Amino acid sequence: MHHVDTRSRKRSASSMTLGFPVIFLLSTNLGSKELQDLEEQIPTLTYDIHEAEVVLGKVSRKERALFELRKHKLVTEEVDPIERSAPASPARKRAKVLTTALASSDVDSDTASDGEVQRRLIGPVPVRPTVKVVRLAWFTESVKAGEVLPIDDYVVYEGRRMPTTPVKVVQPLPAEKVADIMKRALADAGGQSRSPRPKSSQGRRGETYTSHPVRPALVRQTTSEHEIDTKLPPIPDYLLTAYSCQRPTRIHPPNEAFIEELAKIKTARTLTGDKIGVRAYSSAIAAIAAYPYTFQTAQEIARLPGCGNKIALLFQEFKDTGQLKEAREDEADPKLAVLKLFYEIWGVAETTARDFYNRGWRDLDDIVEYGWETLGRVQQIGVKYYDEFQLKIPRAEVESISNTILAHANMIREGFQMVIVGGYRRGKLESGDVDVVLSHPNETATQHFIERIVVSLEKDKYITHTLSLSTTNSERGQAPVSWKGNAKVKAGAGFDTLDKALVVWQDPVWATTATGESKKNPNPHRRVDIIISPWKTAGCAVLGWTSGTTFQRDLRRYCKKERSLKFDSSGIRSRADGTWVDLESGPDGVPAPDMLTAERRVFAGLALEWRPPEERCTG
Ligand SMILES: *[C@@H]1O[C@H](CO)[C@@H](O)[C@H](O)[C@H]1NC(C)=O
Repeated sequence: MHHVDTRSRKRSASSMTLGFPVIFLLSTNLGSKELQDLEEQIPTLTYDIHEAEVVLGKVSRKERALFELRKHKLVTEEVDPIERSAPASPARKRAKVLTTALASSDVDSDTASDGEVQRRLIGPVPVRPTVKVVRLAWFTESVKAGEVLPIDDYVVYEGRRMPTTPVKVVQPLPAEKVADIMKRALADAGGQSRSPRPKSSQGRRGETYTSHPVRPALVRQTTSEHEIDTKLPPIPDYLLTAYSCQRPTRIHPPNEAFIEELAKIKTARTLTGDKIGVRAYSSAIAAIAAYPYTFQTAQEIARLPGCGNKIALLFQEFKDTGQLKEAREDEADPKLAVLKLFYEIWGVAETTARDFYNRGWRDLDDIVEYGWETLGRVQQIGVKYYDEFQLKIPRAEVESISNTILAHANMIREGFQMVIVGGYRRGKLESGDVDVVLSHPNETATQHFIERIVVSLEKDKYITHTLSLSTTNSERGQAPVSWKGNAKVKAGAGFDTLDKALVVWQDPVWATTATGESKKNPNPHRRVDIIISPWKTAGCAVLGWTSGTTFQRDLRRYCKKERSLKFDSSGIRSRADGTWVDLESGPDGVPAPDMLTAERRVFAGLALEWRPPEERCTG
């Protein structure tokens, strides 16, 4: 374990300690895997182009660079290439010094290897006078060389920002107010860096989070920035990390109403295919959901990981008007409404939803009338049961369906254990579907078991349709998926390689009328996922299938960057040599006594504090 730790530190040090300027990454011509890898490597990444000194991307011509800037609503005037070699203007120098000071002040923190922490600190730095559009090679070659290479050879375009404030694009707030918030947020970031986080060995880290924390009293604001700074409630230790898997995140956080507004914007970004936007909003939502106090001021937000100036401004708007204009506009957008309708069809991803829209379809009837033959079987089932799949499933029914599955498993072979995972386990009162993980201490029992249980449940008429049946884990002998190291990552491959069946379920029993006439089965069709895990990796299966989406995303990121491991719900592997890393067996290789103990051991083995399922509600 110890040597893995050292490796990961060395790895993340490679790009993280280089003094890059603030970088905005263009997604143009980047695959989603490449995009994500780059985002993780760039220590000074910003999601707001107006904060960037460098706009990095697969762009080699000036016209293209200008097009990209226009697309992001950044208006510039070209800087004469001769001027470029002239000394930097004082304003620019100041911004640079400030950036460096803020970024380096954070370096000794345990979590500083992640770009998001630094992004938080450098977020509020005032708008810089020029921006350079730079070829991607500058960054990749700098990382390879271990030093920041001179940028000039890579610059495609350099422009001076025209006097259009970024805020004008985003927000109708008065300029003084914005300047004020930025100034205060900056003061907060400064204040933060003056008081480094306490070392983890001392008591504070062990403190448990209570559900009704007493918010420290906020004295009326004065005009002194320093006084305001000291009157903000302290940020809990767990919010100094950029990994949401290290924080308690409950289902109904104090700032839930604001989160709901942000979630609407996030959904719109999903539907329009804005991957960077989705990641940015997901991170911000997860951080805000873990914040234990009701926000009083926008400055409180600018301090949180993944939340910069922009989210702070959105909160100011929410506080002033009770809503977000962007969320209202999204809701009123007829195209988004259609995309959302299509996206909610089971088996239809956002790209397919856009494809349907582009074919001219506007509702489910259009699909049935004009496109039925072109749909896959699964999508046809998704359309057919659209209304029923929208219905929520109460906890009691989730339990009854799960118990039927477990009973069938044990009829086939005794000794199966089950954990109901998904939203149910996180405490949701109603679920969109039912997810269960089944396992058995004898490895021969789980091998090719998925086919047998599906056949058994079909025979008793519980399963009406099988949408997807995956047996890949059994086909490779239930060995954790082979991993050839970082070089061979395939986009989208290996998220979950456990044996599983995604099915449509309907209770075959219903009350007959007094005359005993049987009518059409009135019970709603439900979506049910049955996942089979071999015992040796059941902890990973339960962990992967229980936690909220952003929690899982950050768990993978944490494993990659902090542990040099690859997490997958079918097991954990070393990134160095691809071997399976067993965190679930006891000291003498004795298997875990049950699936929940196995899950706890995964947390412990990853050096993560245990989070009960109700604290993994990151959204
Ligand atoms: C597991 O089951 C197989 C037969 O299915 C049996 O031969 C074997 O002895 C069992 N292993 C253990 C450890 O009980």
